[in-house]
Amino acid sequence: MSEFEKRVREIAEKASDEISGVDGLERLNEIRIAFLGKKGTLTSVLKGMKDVAPEERPQVGKWVNDAREAIERSIEESRARLEAELQNRRLSAEAIDVTLPARKQVSGHRHPNTVTLEEVERIFTGMGYEVIEGPEIEYDDYNFTKLNIPANHPAKDEQDTFYITDEILLRTQTSPVQARIMEQGKLPIRMIAPGRVFRSDEVDATHSPSFHQIEGLVIDRGITFADLKGTLDIFAKKLFGPDTKTKFRPHHFPFTEPSAEVDVSCFKCGGKGCRFCKGEGWIEILGCGMVHPHVLEMCGLDPEVYGGFAFGIGLERIALLKYEIDDMRLLYENDVRFISQF
Ligand code: DAH
Repeated sequence: MSEFEKRVREIAEKASDEISGVDGLERLNEIRIAFLGKKGTLTSVLKGMKDVAPEERPQVGKWVNDAREAIERSIEESRARLEAELQNRRLSAEAIDVTLPARKQVSGHRHPNTVTLEEVERIFTGMGYEVIEGPEIEYDDYNFTKLNIPANHPAKDEQDTFYITDEILLRTQTSPVQARIMEQGKLPIRMIAPGRVFRSDEVDATHSPSFHQIEGLVIDRGITFADLKGTLDIFAKKLFGPDTKTKFRPHHFPFTEPSAEVDVSCFKCGGKGCRFCKGEGWIEILGCGMVHPHVLEMCGLDPEVYGGFAFGIGLERIALLKYEIDDMRLLYENDVRFISQF
């Protein structure tokens, strides 16, 4: 065996040993460069060609080429094996165990206001009322004038709010929805209008510059105060329990005549008097009255033919009572630990 043949064979064997023991793609590449690269061991054999007798050169060239092909083949085989291993390792590392229990989704909780509003809506829709909405940004005209609160009326000061222009403001009450729906002139009307209202009040346990009301309005021929009393009495019994009694106290609202405030017998002590009702036995829950003839007129209805009643409920007030929460601020903090109790 010639010296060249021996050398090429040795190189091929060494390469084969190293390739079969390789444990990574990077190392495999190093091996390829060490044997087949420009300065590689096998390549250097070709560089010694000048010392070979010309007639032997083709033979030496063939040995070197055969060895190169063999080395390349086994490098490719190793590369395929290593890549497959890597892929398998990746797949098993990313494997999803479908038998594991699902991770619990931490979702929020319905707000006491929402729960209460849905209950109020259920009660009134059950009596044939429609639920409608009006704008939170309102004309002074609807918020005050059409509700019989003219420019210099003291009620306007009591409901001080946020003006956007001289004529446009954040509504102080949901009552303007009454005027809007009456103006549309589709009769009879049986609606409630829940929504956000705004007043420039300081924040404390019972006040907030933004809170919610639920307006109610019924307009038809022949509606009487008895209808108002019956409706609100049923509402109170459905909301606070069948033993609840209602009391109508005369009051004044500019857009109703006569007007009343409604108290319910304390659902905590049944009327005997306790800490909850401050010893009174009664708790105020809303304002109401028969729609003022002047309001009907301003909204395009003939007070000789049509009449009806209206009421306004403070949503937070009801929610605080129902869930025995003693500070309104808790309703606006959105602390799930608090909210999930209800
Ligand atoms: N809008 C009144 C307020 O904010 C509440 C109210 C009272 C509404 C009597 C009414 C009503 O519809 O008849 O104080």
